[in-house]
Amino acid sequence: MTLTATDLTKSYGENQVLKGVTIFVEPGRVRGLLGENGAGKSTLIRILAGITRADHGEVTVNGERMRSNRPQLFLAAGVSVAHQELSLCPNLTVAENIVVAAGQYLGFIAYRQVAENFERLRRELELPFSGSSVVGNLPLGSRQLLEIAKALASDPRYLILDEPTSSLSSAEFQTICRAVERRTGQGMGTLFISHRMEEVRRICRPLTVLRDGKVSADIDNAETVSDMDLVERMTGREAGTKFPPYHNATTNRVALQVAGLGAPSSVPITDVTFDLRAGEILGIGGLAGHGQETVLRAIFGADRSTGTLTVDGSAFARGSVGAAMRAGIAYVPADRRQESLLLQMPVSTNAVLPSLGRLARHGWRRFDDEHRHVHRMLSRFSVKGRASDAIATLSGGNQQKIALGKWLDRQPKVLLLNDPTRGVDIPTKLLIYRELQAEAERGTAIILSSSDTLELQEFADRVLIMRNGRIATELDHAQASEQAIVAASLGVANASKGTI
Ligand SMILES: Nc1ncnc2c1ncn2[C@@H]1O[C@H](COP(=O)(O)OP(=O)(O)OP(=O)(O)O)[C@@H](O)[C@H]1O
Ligand SMILES: [Mg+2]
Repeated sequence: MTLTATDLTKSYGENQVLKGVTIFVEPGRVRGLLGENGAGKSTLIRILAGITRADHGEVTVNGERMRSNRPQLFLAAGVSVAHQELSLCPNLTVAENIVVAAGQYLGFIAYRQVAENFERLRRELELPFSGSSVVGNLPLGSRQLLEIAKALASDPRYLILDEPTSSLSSAEFQTICRAVERRTGQGMGTLFISHRMEEVRRICRPLTVLRDGKVSADIDNAETVSDMDLVERMTGREAGTKFPPYHNATTNRVALQVAGLGAPSSVPITDVTFDLRAGEILGIGGLAGHGQETVLRAIFGADRSTGTLTVDGSAFARGSVGAAMRAGIAYVPADRRQESLLLQMPVSTNAVLPSLGRLARHGWRRFDDEHRHVHRMLSRFSVKGRASDAIATLSGGNQQKIALGKWLDRQPKVLLLNDPTRGVDIPTKLLIYRELQAEAERGTAIILSSSDTLELQEFADRVLIMRNGRIATELDHAQASEQAIVAASLGVANASKGTI
């Protein structure tokens, strides 16, 4: 009794993405799937869920060979997926999204049953929203929780989670863990993909590592291998440490001044006040959806706001992205698909977009320069993919690299980052940290909002913790331990280091 893929191969054009992959998921166990960006994880998942057809090889569910690649048949056989790139309908309510997913839509909708079903999931996963909320209005973390709830709604025998936790806070991750563990005890089998090693260790025993479309390691017990070993299996290189040594490049010059900032958005913020200095990396943390994103969007002019904003001492118009960009502000959003990339356009167009003006002469585009520029960016961030490919065909992590790279390129005075390493593999994370550190040393003022507590602890010069739309706590680098950040996010007094 397993969900098994045997000897799968899959190519897109000349790009051979899977080269004979065999993997199985057993009932009552959680298997981790690891691999660099572009290794082929999501492609494998899409084949296991009947969304994509393999060129060769077969998928069996409990011994039965799946002949067609209709997702409904796989769902009926008990295979359910929470996708990396969320598969929700933004215009429908939470409850409606779950109905559509569970295949309960048989000409009419039994609203009472739908409501009861949702209520059960809401309690199980401690969801912080109601069934009648419109999905498009929810923050990214909540949408990710809903994607998982949706996958669990059909009570699957096999659950596949493709980086479902990249925007979740650690408390939310713990809740998901408990739900998965409870259901694992009842016989569900799970395949769990994540780039966060501590998560994989928390919940997975057997592990499969993919490298370049091949299984490079099949491990029965995660406890028998070190993180370094795993990274080596993923990259074929010896692993370095994850974070560069901490270095504070903060100067005395105030680059961005935020005074009494308020915004009446779907997650409102009140009275947000702080100074950001040139060369400083200011972390923003807190549980998902407590206003972190609204602060960034309000500064970037993407949301209406009240209060005062100045860059280098001069005020600029609030509520206008154009004014913010002219003042020297850049913003990298967390949801690259909806807010950041033109998915059907080539990688090259996406990469040069914010720099078009700078690369042109007298208003004329200079394609040679653009071309060189794009290739520099692709190699700087080791992007797997060609400049002429539609960016939608790149793996999630590689899309993220372009979403970040295109703004770094513009040499902003103030760089606002919303979970910039979400979905990025470990070697690339290290690269991004180095780039950001270099950026800070050049005098760029950086705000790093992150759901990755470790990232804030290791990397930020100072951390602001948001709760209910306000700055609840400020921690300097020395104070900002993982425990202190989590405690402040939850509003729990941090008694002493190491205990909460
Ligand atoms: N629809 C598609 N058309 C063309 N190429 C594709 C398509 N989907 C995936 N690819 C290519 O397949 C390769 C593997 O992508 P995949 O999404 O499986 O990677 P991944 O391991 O999930 O990476 P990540 O950690 O970044 O999510 C990439 O090089 C990608 O460009
Ligand atoms: Mg993927």
